[in-house]
Amino acid sequence: MKKKITARWLRDEYFAFFKEKEHRVIPNSPLIPQDDSSALFTSAGMHPLVPYLLGEPHPLGRRLVGIQKCLRTGDIEKVGDGFHHTFFEMLGNWSLGDYWKKEAVSWSWQFLTKNLGFSAEKISVTCFAGDKEVKKDKETAGYWEKVGIPQERIFFLGREDNWWGPVGKTGPCGPDTEMFVDTGAPSCSSSCQPGCSCGKYIEVWNNVFMEYLRDEKGHYLPLKQKNVDTGMGVERVVALLLGKKDDDYQTPIFSPLIEKIAEISGKSYQGEWRRPMRIIADHLRAAVFIVNEGIVPGNKEHGYVLRRLIRRSIREGKQLGMDSFWVKAVAEEVIANIDNYGDDYQELRKEKTRIVAVLEEEERKFRRTLDRGLKELEKLFSSLEKSQEKKVSGKDAFYLYETFGFPLELVKEEAQKRGFVVDEKDFLREKEKHQRVSQTAAKGRFKSGLATRSPQIIKYHTATHLLQAALRKILGKHVQQAGSNITEERLRFDFTHPSPLTPEQIKAVEDLVNQKIAANLPVKMEVMSFEESQKRGALAFFKGRYPPQVKVYFIGDFSCEVCAGPHVKATGQLGKFRIIKEESCGSGKRRIYAVLEK
Ligand code: SER
Repeated sequence: MKKKITARWLRDEYFAFFKEKEHRVIPNSPLIPQDDSSALFTSAGMHPLVPYLLGEPHPLGRRLVGIQKCLRTGDIEKVGDGFHHTFFEMLGNWSLGDYWKKEAVSWSWQFLTKNLGFSAEKISVTCFAGDKEVKKDKETAGYWEKVGIPQERIFFLGREDNWWGPVGKTGPCGPDTEMFVDTGAPSCSSSCQPGCSCGKYIEVWNNVFMEYLRDEKGHYLPLKQKNVDTGMGVERVVALLLGKKDDDYQTPIFSPLIEKIAEISGKSYQGEWRRPMRIIADHLRAAVFIVNEGIVPGNKEHGYVLRRLIRRSIREGKQLGMDSFWVKAVAEEVIANIDNYGDDYQELRKEKTRIVAVLEEEERKFRRTLDRGLKELEKLFSSLEKSQEKKVSGKDAFYLYETFGFPLELVKEEAQKRGFVVDEKDFLREKEKHQRVSQTAAKGRFKSGLATRSPQIIKYHTATHLLQAALRKILGKHVQQAGSNITEERLRFDFTHPSPLTPEQIKAVEDLVNQKIAANLPVKMEVMSFEESQKRGALAFFKGRYPPQVKVYFIGDFSCEVCAGPHVKATGQLGKFRIIKEESCGSGKRRIYAVLEK
């Protein structure tokens, strides 16, 4: 029987396979990590599992399976080939201190060859080659040989390729083994082998053996437990299964978007048009999902990434001659095809009007900027003419590119019309310089790392629960958490409330929290069904996104919240709570910054 291969089918097949192996399904977490200031976006399935990889017990047990929406801004420049994306879905199975390499390898093999039907001869694998700190992973290679992969198709590579994590500077990490499917394309060079990015070998699955914790000093310490963390990119596996090899954009996940772009631009998906079409399809899909999380375009953090994705799409659209307003049509197509995925994203339909309006507004703003840019361009040419300079410098071209979104091609075209040339090399140099700066900035973002659950951060986490309970007592039950961000120095808590807090209210909240700290209330955790937690009045921030079993933290009888933890054992440890700032953070929302003093 020929199965209909879709992202949804792959997910169902994967879940069924691992459920049979006693895994429980975890929910798809938000794209914006909560209670974690170290990363802007969820970038892997393991991301929401960090506390459990570090040893916290998971309410669903030690074997988990799931699908996670992810976003990787680090790959933005690679988008345009057939198989790199900013937004993508990742399937994964996890062992939290339960099974280990042997089972992981044998199940991966079974699933790839039996369930997905990849022919065994087309699969090759890589394992960790070892270095000063961690030894060569001969054990895993041995298991691959046992399932039937000949030695010639088992490669050993170093940290660049076969080591995963931590996401930031610190956190869980370990050697990995990666599985590749040979597309049958010719080798790009004599050194072409799995790990080469030419598109001959497509990486379909990664099994990470997470047994280390990288600490602040860069040392690798053994974790409390040995975990398996696997990740399979949905888009590329669907493409391979459909015989589309290295072109994810020819699968039903993307093809309606590509068709829409082709219709708007009047160009067909071939040759040089493929790249801009792919970038638009990738970026606007990502943008739709980001806006769905409540983000709007801006100049900082999430908003900046969103703005960049939308503006880059419009720029690429220019290359295709798409000049009138078109972002809405493509965004609507993303939402119209949401059934291609599992059932996780139905909310996008409900949010359609809002999402599309946000994207349209950004397009409007950007087009106004572009018009200003054209005027700027005219000014530039007339000043060059005056100085009898026949060359547009890379700096000027890059300024037009960065500030007004003018692709180099467009500047070149305009220049040519007037008998000028553009210093392209200089332009590329400027662009690289800029990329280096933004990459360094992105790295800075991950400085602290996902595993930074220091004692101070844990204290702030408990203080956040106290603060929410106090706000609800003083201001009323309409107060709901709308976001939270914790660093070593302070907590930040966003919540729904229509007006600024009066000094008296601030004082009352502080006093109430401090009273609960002084009472040294015990902090207790219980695992229960989500329904039960709601019956018992537990606050739950991510409505409708919880697994059947959840952890509930009780602070005396003052606070009760569904939460992954960890928390302090009793409130007496927290110190003195002080609100240092209260401000608006969007309509109907307030933001509090607070510190714990010794
Ligand atoms: N964390 C690993 C990855 O992202 C495996 O899930 O590839």
